[in-house]
Amino acid sequence: MTGSAAFWDRIAARYARKPVADEAAYQRKLAVSRDYFTRDSELLEIGCGTGSTALAHAPYVKHIRAIDFSSSMIAIAEKKRVDQRIDNVTFECRGVGELADDGRCYDGILALSVLHLLDDWRGAIGLVHDLLVPGGVFISSTACIRDMLPGFRFIAPLGRTLGLLPELSCFTAASLRRALDDAGFTIAFEWQPGKRQALFLVARKPR
Ligand SMILES: C[S@@+](CC[C@H](N)C(=O)[O-])C[C@H]1O[C@@H](n2cnc3c(N)ncnc32)[C@H](O)[C@@H]1O
Repeated sequence: MTGSAAFWDRIAARYARKPVADEAAYQRKLAVSRDYFTRDSELLEIGCGTGSTALAHAPYVKHIRAIDFSSSMIAIAEKKRVDQRIDNVTFECRGVGELADDGRCYDGILALSVLHLLDDWRGAIGLVHDLLVPGGVFISSTACIRDMLPGFRFIAPLGRTLGLLPELSCFTAASLRRALDDAGFTIAFEWQPGKRQALFLVARKPR
């Protein structure tokens, strides 16, 4: 298990109890995402946490494969799935780096509050591009920490060493847009609810 998976295992129960920070913004992100889904959509969610988003989207799509490298997060997500009697979501304990090229392709891939937690976030964007069908969408919501808190990147390593923070990648919205562009995506929708809030993007792989 990586150090970061242990961090998320440790806080999973607390994370599950925490209310969404901005419920109106979250609901708008769900609604905008659904504009890009059909009842036949096959989705992949990376870093699904306790599964709320996958379970909320389930009635609108064919199937969602939702992965997270924290077994505690996945255990909570799976319990919610069973309690809600949802049978078109599959939760899997798996890291983004373990997403093998197994021939499976997706109409949409979700990464909500995840890219800034990945060491190789550019590599993850490239992988997502490979896993999408032509015309497929990558829906992300990302804390662009380097814009939000410019000095934070100097403090983050200490927080990590003390076990108070997970691994963090501090980049700007401009570098995120550039990485999407470099991978071959076209940005179809962009919204940042507030100056210090996550940047929500829908990026499309050209047909
Ligand atoms: C901030 S939480 C977001 C959870 C969920 N997407 C949400 O919006 O509530 C980040 C999640 O990403 C997961 N995660 C971080 N790095 C990951 C990786 N390399 N592979 C798989 N999951 C990862 C963590 O375990 C955690 O559950």
